[in-house]
Amino acid sequence: MKNTIVSLQKCKTSGKKISMLTAYDYATAKIMEQSGIDAVLVGDSLGMVCLGYENTLSVTMEDMIHHSAAVARGVSSVFVVTDMPFMSYQTSVYDAVVNAGRLIKEGGANAVKLEGGFEVCEHITAITRASIPVMGHLGLTPQSINAFGGYKVQGKTEQAAQNLLDQALAVEKAGAFSVVLECVPAKLAALVTAELSIPTIGIGAGAQCDGQILVYQDMLGMYNEVSAKFVKHYENLSERMTEAFKTYIADVQAQTFPGVEHTYAIDDEVIDTLKKREKK
Ligand code: KIV
Repeated sequence: MKNTIVSLQKCKTSGKKISMLTAYDYATAKIMEQSGIDAVLVGDSLGMVCLGYENTLSVTMEDMIHHSAAVARGVSSVFVVTDMPFMSYQTSVYDAVVNAGRLIKEGGANAVKLEGGFEVCEHITAITRASIPVMGHLGLTPQSINAFGGYKVQGKTEQAAQNLLDQALAVEKAGAFSVVLECVPAKLAALVTAELSIPTIGIGAGAQCDGQILVYQDMLGMYNEVSAKFVKHYENLSERMTEAFKTYIADVQAQTFPGVEHTYAIDDEVIDTLKKREKK
């Protein structure tokens, strides 16, 4: 059964926690679906973990469509949310609707995600009016890295915490079906989760959110350039991949790869005939 905004909303009501991971390619998305993930986010974090940029600001609509379409081809029951990249919606409500539409039509997404609070409520309403579900994103919003002056925990003072709660309520009122809370104190995220009727998805926001999301290269220990306190390493694939690559290189040097089992046979007769022909 395909997950939808309705099934995700039911999770909030029933108390079943929503599991989400980021995904950027066909093969990984397929493995995630086989593992039973509820939803995947084609995050603009792909700029860092797949494309090697310093932050998410250089990611384009074409990047997002390319990766989103690959992920969408890899899953059938998993709900696919795709990030709207920097400057694909901030410029105008019109741009927001057009670009959200492209992520659905060309990128195969089921919903889009955009960052911000009061300033994007009009955009959220317009996109949802076009029948495109919108996930909000509050707290640490990486597209505002230059305005924040760094990756910092958000909502720690009374004023900042009230502001975050107000923005979450505004995003819900604008029509968002869910909201990501990133780098927010756990007790504040719990309060926001209790106040909202839509599901909250936490990343660095504690266990009381309605669901959790992690960047998969972070949780698998494949990307070690930025290390956040909230990441749990379920694997150390960077080490395991290095070992595998080293073994392969050694095998090639020692000519122990490819073995007979990796090669295709041909009748000796054919080769003998060719050799005789060459000698003439
Ligand atoms: O781009 C991304 O991966 C995200 C998650 C961190 C929520 O926005």
